[in-house]
Amino acid sequence: MHTHTLLLLLLLKPGVCESCSLVVSPAGLVVKYGAPVSANCTSDTVTSMGWVPSQGESQVFRTGVKELTWRVDSLTDWNIKPQCFEMSEKGGQCARVLNVTVYKLPDRVSIRYLSHSGPVVEGHQYSLHCVVQNTAPIEHLRVTFFKVSTNGEQTVLYTQQLNNDIREPVNESFSLQFSPTSVDDRAQLCCSAMLDLGPQGPQPPPVMESECLNTTVHFAPEFSCSAKLQVREGEGLTCDVRGNPLPSVTWLRDGKMLTPPTHLSREDAGNYTLMALNRIGKANHTMEVEVLHDRAARGASCQAAGSATVALLLHQLIHWLY
Ligand SMILES: *[C@@H]1O[C@H](CO)[C@@H](O)[C@H](O)[C@H]1NC(C)=O
Ligand SMILES: *[C@@H]1O[C@H](CO)[C@@H](O)[C@H](O)[C@H]1NC(C)=O
Ligand SMILES: *[C@@H]1O[C@H](CO)[C@@H](O)[C@H](O)[C@H]1NC(C)=O
Ligand SMILES: *[C@@H]1O[C@H](CO)[C@@H](O)[C@H](O)[C@H]1NC(C)=O
Ligand SMILES: *[C@@H]1O[C@H](CO)[C@@H](O)[C@H](O)[C@H]1NC(C)=O
Ligand SMILES: *[C@@H]1O[C@H](CO)[C@@H](O)[C@H](O)[C@H]1NC(C)=O
Repeated sequence: MHTHTLLLLLLLKPGVCESCSLVVSPAGLVVKYGAPVSANCTSDTVTSMGWVPSQGESQVFRTGVKELTWRVDSLTDWNIKPQCFEMSEKGGQCARVLNVTVYKLPDRVSIRYLSHSGPVVEGHQYSLHCVVQNTAPIEHLRVTFFKVSTNGEQTVLYTQQLNNDIREPVNESFSLQFSPTSVDDRAQLCCSAMLDLGPQGPQPPPVMESECLNTTVHFAPEFSCSAKLQVREGEGLTCDVRGNPLPSVTWLRDGKMLTPPTHLSREDAGNYTLMALNRIGKANHTMEVEVLHDRAARGASCQAAGSATVALLLHQLIHWLY
């Protein structure tokens, strides 16, 4: 019987028989590696039918039936392509292929820089790699790089899917060219891998996340105060500057270095320039300061936008010979 079946199979052309009445149910299967699986093949009329390849205890071939079940207790063949075939009295033959997708969730998802460690520098480019270990099938895997800001907000940086029909588990590395900016300082960089196997697969599609990389970005000084300040008499001058490493700051008025006044008088009105420097770069900021002597003054201080790495208060003066 077995040999007989195999010989017949050589003559079969799956799915091309126009009058084939065989129906395989379900039409396709998505199965976790090692899980049990079964499908039925039915025919319009009583016939002789079989399933190949045979696995476990499933019946290979039977005569005088309208239905035959294919069953595997533990599916461990990544490339399995079961076929149900029929041999009718009239001598016709036909076959139906059952689509089976065998999947395995990743053992591990991790993120790292390619040949880099420690702080990154604004404006430079780094290669970030997301490594997904031992998963199948790789073409259904969607890898997403994302960033978690200090306020908890998540931003997707890049999503990638491979076009690769390998069915066995593989290790795969996905990469992203990353150019950090000052807002990325202290953010976290992470990646996730989603195995999206369509409506027949597990719902919602399983997602595995990497641990995240804490990002330290070194960046040149940045000022976040306006060009015009109105300050009440008796108040001090404040301007916020961010920078990593901590910048040194020099105050100038009319080209002369000074300690910013802590209690402004009307004579202190004028144009002030701040010069900030760290080893990444330098920046200047000039502001026109108006001193108000009545109580109607508004907007006396200038606010930093976002998180200030350094809030420079008036007393701070670091001598820096420009
Ligand atoms: C079986 O898989 C092939 C290739 O992946 C696809 O084109 C076809 O539509 C699938 N058939 C069913 C019934 O799912
Ligand atoms: C196959 O048929 C049997 C009996 O007809 C039924 O109990 C079973 O649920 C069917 N299996 C599938 C996968 O359709
Ligand atoms: C994937 O990587 C792991 C750990 O490095 C290794 O043990 C395993 O053999 C690799 N698998 C394949 C398919 O390359
Ligand atoms: C990253 O930073 C968080 C808090 O900001 C901390 O809990 C965690 O341990 C850090 N991770 C690493 C790998 O340094
Ligand atoms: C400050 O600078 C502005 C613009 O350059 C100029 O118009 C103004 O006269 C200056 N003020 C003082 C007090 O020098
Ligand atoms: C900062 O100001 C100084 C003096 O006005 C000037 O010489 C220098 O070019 C400025 N630097 C930058 C980075 O703007």
